[in-house]
Amino acid sequence: MNGKKKNRVLAIDDEPAMIEWLKILLEHEGYEVRTAMIGTRGEEIFKTWKPDVVVTDMMLPDVDGLELLRRFKQTHPDTEVIVITGHGSVQKAVEAMKAGAFEFAEKPVDADALLAKLERAIERRDLLGENLLLKQKIENQFRFGNIIGKSKKMHEVLELVESVAGSDANILIQGENGTGKELIANALHYNSKRAKGPFIKINCAAIPKDLIESELFGYKKGAFTGAASDKEGLFEMAEGGSLLLDEIGEMPPYLQTKLLRVLQEREYRPIGSDRIVRVDFRLICATNIDLDAALRDGKLREDLYFRINTITLRVPPLRERTEDIPLLCEHFLDKYKQRHQRPNIKSIAPAAYHVLIRHRWPGNVREIENVIERGVLVTKGNEIGVNDLPESLRTESTTAGEFVIPPHRTLAEIEKMAILQTLQRTNWNKQEAAQILGLYRPTLYSKMKKHEIQDGGKSGARRIAQPN
Ligand SMILES: Nc1ncnc2c1ncn2[C@@H]1O[C@H](COP(=O)(O)OP(=O)(O)OP(=O)(O)O)[C@@H](O)[C@H]1O
Ligand SMILES: [Mg+2]
Repeated sequence: MNGKKKNRVLAIDDEPAMIEWLKILLEHEGYEVRTAMIGTRGEEIFKTWKPDVVVTDMMLPDVDGLELLRRFKQTHPDTEVIVITGHGSVQKAVEAMKAGAFEFAEKPVDADALLAKLERAIERRDLLGENLLLKQKIENQFRFGNIIGKSKKMHEVLELVESVAGSDANILIQGENGTGKELIANALHYNSKRAKGPFIKINCAAIPKDLIESELFGYKKGAFTGAASDKEGLFEMAEGGSLLLDEIGEMPPYLQTKLLRVLQEREYRPIGSDRIVRVDFRLICATNIDLDAALRDGKLREDLYFRINTITLRVPPLRERTEDIPLLCEHFLDKYKQRHQRPNIKSIAPAAYHVLIRHRWPGNVREIENVIERGVLVTKGNEIGVNDLPESLRTESTTAGEFVIPPHRTLAEIEKMAILQTLQRTNWNKQEAAQILGLYRPTLYSKMKKHEIQDGGKSGARRIAQPN
């Protein structure tokens, strides 16, 4: 930190004790802080002092917090805003996120959680940088317009996509089911020099293993029983374009060898043919399994692996980018109310959001998409309510999600797992985690120490109590 310009935080809140607390907390953490107790004053400071991040209450005596947020984002779109909302006002928080807020914090505000959010906001601001990068971001949004996401993690993925799309390097896209691998493969192809060429896809998990070879290589009439006429292979069809090998981990070993040879020699013979076909495609592979493990188990050839992953894009699971959930929900609401001609559906009810934000989304974006489409179809009113969500989601939100105890563990180990999972699930918000676990905060801290759980909400001495 030494020698570096301090990051500026503007705090707006009408409660003197809260302002005081924020000032002490943030200055202690090395930020330069200015405060305002009414919105108009906050706006004045905002214009002249140009803070990096604004932390503002949504309920201000003179201006509507949402309106203030919109004005901030309009004048300086690259200033990040964290809004503070009353406990349980998820709707306000969601509206704020839609209007461009980076994050929200519920009252009573937990110091650690707030500092973690602030740190992320600064990181993101640094990432976006000054005007040049801002312009780039707008162009990105345009070019990758169908990929929704404003989380830092998604932003990083999209930046990488943009920087490698133009090259001819082989790309491996790794990510859980439904995270958007195919969408990203599309972005790679349509933003490459080969965009006007064909984009051929084959899913190695979806077609019988013994057909993959003839699909890829093609064959000459009479090459084997059933080869009634010549068939052009996918390698050839992808000429001048891109080829997506989806679920590459499912490719049988002997074919991996053949594929590797094609990639090395850039030519091959269709089955039963003496014609030599030169290959000219850009290879994109996707997988939802851990290829390192496949490598260890001998299911994937090492030399092929090195050939296909010149660049690896890792698409993070949704639970690691929960900031994207509201955006995705809105996106799919729009999409499906149009598709199913239900223009009367205006919104998703706050209580439903409550459930949606807390869910773990093992099926990732595809699962959200299904849940929202279903909601659009089943709702009878003009919003998607809790009762329009699948039963499994509704019941889960009352417990804290699934917690599976593996066999043969000591009670101490199980306690450690429970604490760790709760902390992860609450984004390292100790106050919330303690509440869920039914512990006093100091007890939680001592248990964390006992189990040697490192604070995932980052470092530092942050024991400044909030006024109440
Ligand atoms: N960031 C996103 N923004 C908008 N839509 C998304 C996003 N990510 C995924 N989707 C949508 O979610 C669905 C699943 O995405 P996609 O098929 O690309 O995932 P995948 O990772 O290839 O899944 P699988 O592993 O099951 O093949 C698609 O309808 C896609 O359009
Ligand atoms: Mg896919």
